[in-house]
Amino acid sequence: MQYDKPSRRALDPIETASIDELRDLQLTRMQWSIAHAYNNVPAYKKLCDEKGVHPYELKTLEDLSRFPFTTKAYLRDAYPFDSFAVPMNEVVRVHASSGTTGKPTVVGYTQNDINTWADVVARSIRAAGGHYGDKVHVSYGYGLFTGGMGAHYGAERLGCTVIPMSGGQTEKQVQLIQDFDPDIIMVTPSYMLNLIDEMERQNVDPEKLALRLGIFGAEPWTDEMRKNIEGRLGIDAVDIYGLSEVMGPGVAMECIETKDGPTIWEDHFYPEIIDPNTGEVLPDGEYGELVFTSLTKEALPIIRYRTRDLTRLLPGTARPMRRIDKITGRSDDMMIIRGVNVFPTQIEEQILKIPALAPHYEIVVTKEGNLDKVLVKVELTPEAQSAPQEPVSNELAHHIKSVVGNSTKIEIVPTGALPRSEGKAKRVFDKR
Ligand code: DLL
Repeated sequence: MQYDKPSRRALDPIETASIDELRDLQLTRMQWSIAHAYNNVPAYKKLCDEKGVHPYELKTLEDLSRFPFTTKAYLRDAYPFDSFAVPMNEVVRVHASSGTTGKPTVVGYTQNDINTWADVVARSIRAAGGHYGDKVHVSYGYGLFTGGMGAHYGAERLGCTVIPMSGGQTEKQVQLIQDFDPDIIMVTPSYMLNLIDEMERQNVDPEKLALRLGIFGAEPWTDEMRKNIEGRLGIDAVDIYGLSEVMGPGVAMECIETKDGPTIWEDHFYPEIIDPNTGEVLPDGEYGELVFTSLTKEALPIIRYRTRDLTRLLPGTARPMRRIDKITGRSDDMMIIRGVNVFPTQIEEQILKIPALAPHYEIVVTKEGNLDKVLVKVELTPEAQSAPQEPVSNELAHHIKSVVGNSTKIEIVPTGALPRSEGKAKRVFDKR
């Protein structure tokens, strides 16, 4: 089959459609998607039946709120393949998200799903400023993780040359970035930091690289981190969001012209924000838990899936479709320190405001008696090695206290002492 390469058109028509057109399309697709799940996934039918709702009751987009939520537990109970809505011989690929404990969450794709996914990732790369003919170095892991193959198929679909590097082999990555001259790199922001450190170690001059764009995601990262990476590498850094259960990378993508949070590709993924405690749907603009309903997926339709990602919905800017604010964190990463909710991104912001500190950090939470204790381990930048440490750690402790409201112990560790990420960084060690 010959695909119409997205790059040959200015934008997909739906990217410039009116909100009314978009809502009409969403409603038609949502009615299909819920009925498809209800009719073909016994576990989903059971959830609806228990709640006493039937797909024919979905007459408006607002009616979605009457339907039950689905969660990771729903998918885990269906392990491995019972959440699929098509016969296994129509499933051309599976991926799985690792999870720290227990069984992985398995997701499946039909050929149409793979095509849709390639289209939304191609659209994402284009929104990021990439185009036909660019060389794309993919350092997201290939395998069960959706990052590598998701990026790969999308970049090919756009008409790019893909360098399927995957994660790891950091020295070699830097070598190939010099030799193959990619224009774009797709990687987690924490692994990008590792790659930049390696470039600096090898005295690679970023000015001499062709790289002009980084498409970073799969973990939370702050605007301060964006500035750090952009400044050190002389590229544009934009945010790509996604999760396996909903598709993989490319559920939402930040547009380069605005860099103001990822635009959700709402023609395929319908967002809601809910109060994580009550499940009540919140108006756009309010912070809460992001919930997604897939509108076109065949193998694994997912209805009102609770992502556990905390953010808010914002109006469209570069596109009419809504945006998400940068993800503050997952509810699972939230540390409750003496009753106060703290996210690693809040600590990251404070670290990166201090020029002498490097963006490598770990947060260790312990309990002494009844008191929660927080220790932030952080490295100095190579340039600041000989600077006195005490003023720096005092400044950081002060910033963290004024923003996060908690007293924190700071430990400045030698450069390179903290483990470097090759994919998603693990930053919090809660030992309570
Ligand atoms: O991380 C898919 C992906 C790959 C997205 C490559 C972007 C780039 P999972 O392994 O299922 O899928 O993890 C999904 O990662 O619920 C968020 O908590 C987090 N996450 C993903 N993208 C972002 C982002 C992939 N841009 C989980 N900002 C999600 C913050 C993100 N968190």
